Amino acid sequence: MGKLIDGKAFANRLCETLAEEVASLKSEKQLTPCIAVVLVGEDPASATYVGAKVKRCEQLGIDSRSHHLDVTTSEEELLSLIDSLNNDPAVHGILVQLPVPKQINSEAVINAISPDKDVDGFHISNVGAMAVGQNNMVPCTPLGSMMLLEDELGDLSGLNAVVVGRSNIVGKPMATLLLQKSCTVTVAHSRTKDLPAVCRGADILVAAVGIPHFVKADWIKEGATVIDVGINRIQDPETGKNRLVGDVDFDAAKDVAGAITPVPGGVGPMTIACLMYNTVAAAKKLSG
Ligand code: GUN
Repeated sequence: MGKLIDGKAFANRLCETLAEEVASLKSEKQLTPCIAVVLVGEDPASATYVGAKVKRCEQLGIDSRSHHLDVTTSEEELLSLIDSLNNDPAVHGILVQLPVPKQINSEAVINAISPDKDVDGFHISNVGAMAVGQNNMVPCTPLGSMMLLEDELGDLSGLNAVVVGRSNIVGKPMATLLLQKSCTVTVAHSRTKDLPAVCRGADILVAAVGIPHFVKADWIKEGATVIDVGINRIQDPETGKNRLVGDVDFDAAKDVAGAITPVPGGVGPMTIACLMYNTVAAAKKLSG
């Protein structure tokens, strides 16, 4: 069996370091990093993610301000809130949990956030900066996935990396970061021809498609490092209970992979830890 990459333990270590940094920012610079978290509507998964983010802030001594808006909120109202948060010097990070209700244009919302407060790294100027190697705010899930990969493999240069999925949140920024580390990067997606064969060429395989157990064991090269970004809720056919599974058929894949992230306990905790990392970085940058 391949090695389990313990994202939960890595995230806990990163958060311990960040908590120490927050404590010294408070005592030495009278600076308390603060993130505003905006949730629009009642999507239960979004509410769970937001709850986990706020809880991590509390553990680290980061201030969080929750704004829970009604599902009928207009784009104008949300933009007005973002404007006030952009202009509030006590707020260093702004996160609008996605997806937003359909009357709101998510691109307009993301691009209204001040790029230096864009702790998700989704603003078009942060995306562009990363594309030319001038990383500012880097999206949390790809950032956390890169930390796990470099911890596991050290130098990534020359390795074949296949990213399955081309979303703006994960697939595309992940490919950019892997390219920055001199991997040979392939971005595969739903139209890719012979996806199993493409995946079998990967030394690093990143699954970010949002389909439970999509990546099969026989798509994985013996000894490859597998990063499973999926967080899918399914009903267990045996117990009837809901459980979380990844985009990789983990039980079979773990015997082929050299190292693999589990779900839960892999990439998920790293996403939140990296949000804390970006919030502390934003606070330091904005306070000079
Ligand atoms: N929805 C799913 N993932 C994310 C994320 O990383 N950030 C935000 N804001 N919303 C999300």
